[in-house]
Amino acid sequence: MEKMKKGADKNMGEVAIYPGSFDPITYGHIDIVERALEIFDKVIIAIAENEEKRPLFSVGERLQMVKAFFKDTPKVIVDSFKGLLVDYVAKTNAIVILRGLRATSDFEYEFHMASMNRSLDTHLDTLFMMTSKDYFFVSSRTIKEVARLGGGVEGLVPDLVVRRLKEKFKLPVAKKKQIRWDD
Ligand code: PNS
Repeated sequence: MEKMKKGADKNMGEVAIYPGSFDPITYGHIDIVERALEIFDKVIIAIAENEEKRPLFSVGERLQMVKAFFKDTPKVIVDSFKGLLVDYVAKTNAIVILRGLRATSDFEYEFHMASMNRSLDTHLDTLFMMTSKDYFFVSSRTIKEVARLGGGVEGLVPDLVVRRLKEKFKLPVAKKKQIRWDD
């Protein structure tokens, strides 16, 4: 435990860092953050500026969507980073990396990433939280695919994200349905 607390700042409480692409943020991510806030005093959402992954949304757009959602939650800090996650974590007072696990299919990727990060910084551990049953099928990738093909993603991502996806894919933003009896 002492090892994990290496970077902790007593005045700041215990901080977890939640890194990811968040392209875009989903309610699956949000659920992890909200549950983590019951354990940690602060959560830093760290959006990776990884252009190799050819994100749909620019880092500025992703930051804006995440910040808008958590604007009334001072315990959540939203930031972006370039380069190695371990280097970014070292500049913060986070004591642990937080990641969500949806299914066993996530395990191998997450295991490799956590092991690599631990090899780069032996003091840095990754804590996994199981995604809630309501969101285990939700991923940014499937959200983008469904939205691109005109499917509804309401209730799976915040309303602002629904609107941004529609703008990206040039789909009509829903208006109130009007009943016309002559149709
Ligand atoms: O949401 P994602 O795309 O699964 O998040 C992956 C992320 C951003 C956490 C990971 O790719 C990352 O940490 N990138 C920064 C570069 C890095 O540190 N790589 C070494 C760890 S394998």
